[in-house]
Amino acid sequence: MSERTKLVAGNWKMNLTATQAAATLETFAKAVSSRSDVDIVVCPSYLAIPKVRELLRSRPIHLGAQDVFWEDSGAFTGKVSAAMLADAGVDYCIVGHSETRGRFGKVETPASTLGYFAESDETVNLKIGRLLYHGINPILCVGETLAEREQGVTDAVIEAQIRAGLAGFDASELYFSAIAYEPVWAIGTGQTCEPAEASRICGLIRNSLASLLDEDVADQVRILYGGSVKATNSADLFHQPDIDGGLIGGASLDPQEFARIVMSAG
Ligand code: PGA
Repeated sequence: MSERTKLVAGNWKMNLTATQAAATLETFAKAVSSRSDVDIVVCPSYLAIPKVRELLRSRPIHLGAQDVFWEDSGAFTGKVSAAMLADAGVDYCIVGHSETRGRFGKVETPASTLGYFAESDETVNLKIGRLLYHGINPILCVGETLAEREQGVTDAVIEAQIRAGLAGFDASELYFSAIAYEPVWAIGTGQTCEPAEASRICGLIRNSLASLLDEDVADQVRILYGGSVKATNSADLFHQPDIDGGLIGGASLDPQEFARIVMSAG
């Protein structure tokens, strides 16, 4: 088994104006400057990408986006393409986050609004294709809802998402991709998945990659955990055998806390 470099990505979601993102990044970058053995990614809003890119020029931190559309151009009002992200200097892009899959699993989200997000395994697959074409590394999110966990179908749900999301790609195209196991019930809820269980699912994802693609790519792809990761639980999670880092939402908005999370990954 190869020694995989840990990867920690911050998903700032619909938070931080470009000015606020710049200030957050300045503080964060200083606090993590001594941690050169962890790959770090920040995913600001589209509008903050140019400012963040400028600040990252001299720093070993990668730039990520939170979503992408699967056509390069055309009459798709409000959408942003992989070609545009590549031109803006984006290296990574989150795909299939449960908030874009429309699988919020939160009671306060009215069912009538879910269709607005409506990501499916098929759109996830199309997006990954365009990202790879433009040289951007996808961070594919998969995860079960609370109802699916309670029904005992977690493993089958995850395997199906991996199979459909990666259908049609060659192992050689996916070496620099990452996969994030994000149980929907753990996202933004303060309810973290038990480290041993999170590691078990990450191991299951690795086995799926080995059987769908090949052993080499399964050995190389970073498999992250996401869902209420904080500085108080990150070390436990990141030191599990099958967890190669994390996708951090809420806690990445506080630059000091995000830095402590990154520091715990080394
Ligand atoms: P959280 O979000 O850390 O706020 O739970 C994680 C994510 O949505 O990627």
